[in-house]
Amino acid sequence: MPDQNPCKLILALDLETREEAFAMLDRIGDSLEWVKVGLQLFTAYGPDFVREIADRGYKVFLDLKLFDIPNTVAKAVQSISKLPVELLTLHASGGGEMLEWANKARADYSPNLNLLAVTVLTSMDEPQLRSLNVHATTEAQVKHLASLSLNAGIQGLVCSSLELAPLRARFGYEPIIVTPGIRPKGSSADEQKRIMTPHAAAAAGSNYIVVGRPILKADDPAAAAAAIRAELSEV
Ligand code: C5P
Repeated sequence: MPDQNPCKLILALDLETREEAFAMLDRIGDSLEWVKVGLQLFTAYGPDFVREIADRGYKVFLDLKLFDIPNTVAKAVQSISKLPVELLTLHASGGGEMLEWANKARADYSPNLNLLAVTVLTSMDEPQLRSLNVHATTEAQVKHLASLSLNAGIQGLVCSSLELAPLRARFGYEPIIVTPGIRPKGSSADEQKRIMTPHAAAAAGSNYIVVGRPILKADDPAAAAAAIRAELSEV
């Protein structure tokens, strides 16, 4: 059974400049609730850009995929706690201690923030795992890192939608699960390989889907976003 809360749409704001970003948000209009700010815009414009997005009324998913020694990651979480951010990513591969320190900083400084652990990047395949001396299957490694993260108290996971079923079977419906690699029927897959439709991802138990190019590159981004939301509301 999926969570009773409907799956929500997060727009991946993968654009080069703040002008392009705000023009896109203006085109989509205020029916959009969530925006993902990634490394490209954050490294260009910094915390002020996050504040500007939040000042416009959006909820912010800050996708920085933190990965460093426990103290450094905890201090970064402490700094981010001053920003209007609701979801923040970090790499599960940083290890249990890093995850625990990050979660302690979250609890101390920003208890409403939810941390999301990235398990195995969807760009990694098994030959690449082997090159890192990881001999497990991708699914086993995803489950292992998910377990490490949730045991460290992390609130949620980012994973491919194809991993939703095994993760929900193993960990139930409490963890927040966010899935990128979403393509509405008829839209280009781009370079994403392991994709699902919005409806299928929501039905498989995703709490939030992250969608970039199918909206950003649509002739009518507002209509594309509305169509995705309509699909989600049918689940
Ligand atoms: O344009 P598209 O819908 O493919 O964008 C997906 C977004 O989700 C991008 O911002 C990408 O960096 C992010 N993402 C992903 N796969 C992951 C983690 C994040 O595609 N495993």
